Order: sequence, then structure tokens, then C-alpha cells
Amino acid sequence: MQRSGVKITIVGTGMVGASTAFAIMAGGLASDLVLVDIDHKKAEGEAMDLGDAAAFIKPLNIYAGTYEDVKDSQIVIFTAGANQKPGETRLDLLHKNVAILKDSMPRLVKHCPDAVYLMVSNPVDVLTYVALKITGLPANRVFGSGTVLDTSRFKDELSSYCGVDPRNIHAYIIGEHGDSEVALWSTASIAGMGLSQFTPLLGLAPVDRQEIARRVRTAAYEIIQRKGATYYAIALSIKRICEAILRDENSILTVSGLINGLYGINDVCLSLPCIVNGNGRDKVLTVPLSVEEEEGLRNSAQVLKQAVRQAGF
Ligand code: NAI
Ligand code: LAC
Repeated sequence: MQRSGVKITIVGTGMVGASTAFAIMAGGLASDLVLVDIDHKKAEGEAMDLGDAAAFIKPLNIYAGTYEDVKDSQIVIFTAGANQKPGETRLDLLHKNVAILKDSMPRLVKHCPDAVYLMVSNPVDVLTYVALKITGLPANRVFGSGTVLDTSRFKDELSSYCGVDPRNIHAYIIGEHGDSEVALWSTASIAGMGLSQFTPLLGLAPVDRQEIARRVRTAAYEIIQRKGATYYAIALSIKRICEAILRDENSILTVSGLINGLYGINDVCLSLPCIVNGNGRDKVLTVPLSVEEEEGLRNSAQVLKQAVRQAGF
């Protein structure tokens, strides 16, 4: 049976990990998909359930594995750990999830030193930094989903207001995947025009920037309040990042990674538009920022540096 020869491991098969497995499977991205969870029976159940769809998808070898089974994975996706309960921030998960990461990462890298490690567990920017520090792997191969999900939420809000396909909206959220994130209004564009040029074309009032940025920033809290967790959109965000890597697409995605020297920011992981391809997070783009946006980015960096210090790094 001809296989694409692509192996992906997902560590943590809870709501996010299982949804990600489904997205990757439905997208036909891998020939081998390994599900690892401290609750092995849970991983087995997910693999069995997903495996029952065999007749509807490209050939896929999906199974519950142990840390040793991560060997030869092209991508390892880290979704293990606690999620937010209503009222909790992502940073509130810091100590619990850093402890899980410190236990897991060395065991994964021992068996698979050459993979791209895509961090998802929160606080994702801090866990990305910690993963880099404890593994010593290159920064292009250890990065986080960052604000890829937030950028999609931003495009969705603008799409709803402007009545335009979200895929035709170029607008980014940068900084922390969290409360200090920054919406890039100064470079947001539709059909090659800034928003203030575009909205009058459709007879629309100017965009309510504060309200849209607030809705993007609080989206997770609103969803968690209603259904207990978020998992579908992040799963498709992860799938999108994996596609860019596996197909060497040179896609521009706001993944989270190590920043050294850009905008006067050093030694922290946060999101900026990056070129993602077969090398992973290949190039960081120093996009033009307004004074306010640059101040917001520096604030985000400070928030994350403090959280990293609290984590003991
Ligand atoms: P969940 O509780 O449904 O699943 C977590 C899974 O991790 C469980 O199956 C648990 O058994 C497993 N686990 C715990 N410790 C482990 C260990 N040491 N080794 C292997 N597996 C272990 O949680 P959910 O909703 O799937 O969220 C997972 C993480 O993803 C959370 O930190 C959450 O905040 C984060 N998340 C991140 C997003 C992002 O945009 N970066 C979006 C949504 C969730
Ligand atoms: C989200 C949280 C859970 O943005 O990180 O969905």
C-alpha cells in the first residue's frame, strides 16, 4: 500500500488532541498517526474510534503509542495538560503544564530529536520557550500555535462586519496568545486597501476597532463559559500549520517562537507573522507596526517574560 510516509505524533488526546487527530486524518496529511496520553486507554479509545473511519479516508495507520513510538515522526504536536476552567486565564495553567512539559519533552526528544515540535498546551508562548530551553533544539523546529487561532478569529469578525470571505482578509493578531495580544489594524487590508478605504466602498461605517479586538481577545472565555473548552478551531489551526510544514508551502502564519532583537525585544517567545515551510518556523517577518502596536507588543513581551520567570526559567 503506497503511503505518504508522513508520521505525526499527538501527545495528549483530550479534546484538543483528539480533534486535531480528526482534522489531520480527514485532511489526509499523514500515513501514520500516533496518539500518546498518560491515560493510555483514552488514547486507545480515540485511535479505535478514528480508525473505524478507514473506509472513508486515505490509508492511515493510527494507534495509541508510548513515548518510544514517537520515533521518526516529522511533527510532534503537544496538547497534553490542563485546560482553563471558567474564569481561569491561560497563564493560570502555568505551573501545572510546565511540570508536565518538563517531564514529557526530554522523553520525546530522546526518541525523536529531528522532529518539528508544535506546542499547543497553554500558556503556549511560555511552554514554547520552556520547550526550547529544556531541549536545546533549534528555534525553527520548536514553536507554538501562537495567535494563529486568534488571527482566524480576527478575520472572522472582520468578515462578518464587511461581508467578505475571511480568506480575502489580511489581518494579524500578534504577541501573547492571551489577554495582552495585539491586533494589527495599521496593516489590515482587504482587496489591497486599508480598512478605512474599503468600508466606504460598501457603504459601511468605520470598523469599531475596540469592540472587534475585545471580541477576539475574549472569544475563548465566552466559549469555555458555554461549552467548557475550545477545540475545533485550534484543531484546524494545527492542521493548517502542519500542512504548511509538510507541503513546504512558505505560508505566512502567526506562530509563536523565539524573538531575539526584533522591535527591541529579546529572549521571549511570542507571535509575529512568520514564513512556515519544511524547515518549520523558517523566517520571522518584521512587519511595520504603529507606535501603539509596537508598545502593545513590548507589553506582551514583558507579560510573557514575567510568566517565564515564574516558571523558573
Ligand atoms: P483535556 O483535559 O481535554 O486533555 C488534556 C489531555 O492531556 C488529557 O487527555 C490528559 O490525560 C492528557 N495528559 C495530562 N498529562 C499528561 C502527560 N503527562 N502526558 C501525556 N498526556 C497527558 O484538555 P484540552 O481541552 O484538550 O486542552 C489541552 C491543552 O490545550 C490545554 O492546555 C489548553 O489550554 C490548550 N489549548 C490551547 C489552545 C491554543 O490556541 N494554543 C486552544 C485550546 C486549548
Ligand atoms: C483558546 C484558548 C483555550 O484561545 O487558548 O481557545
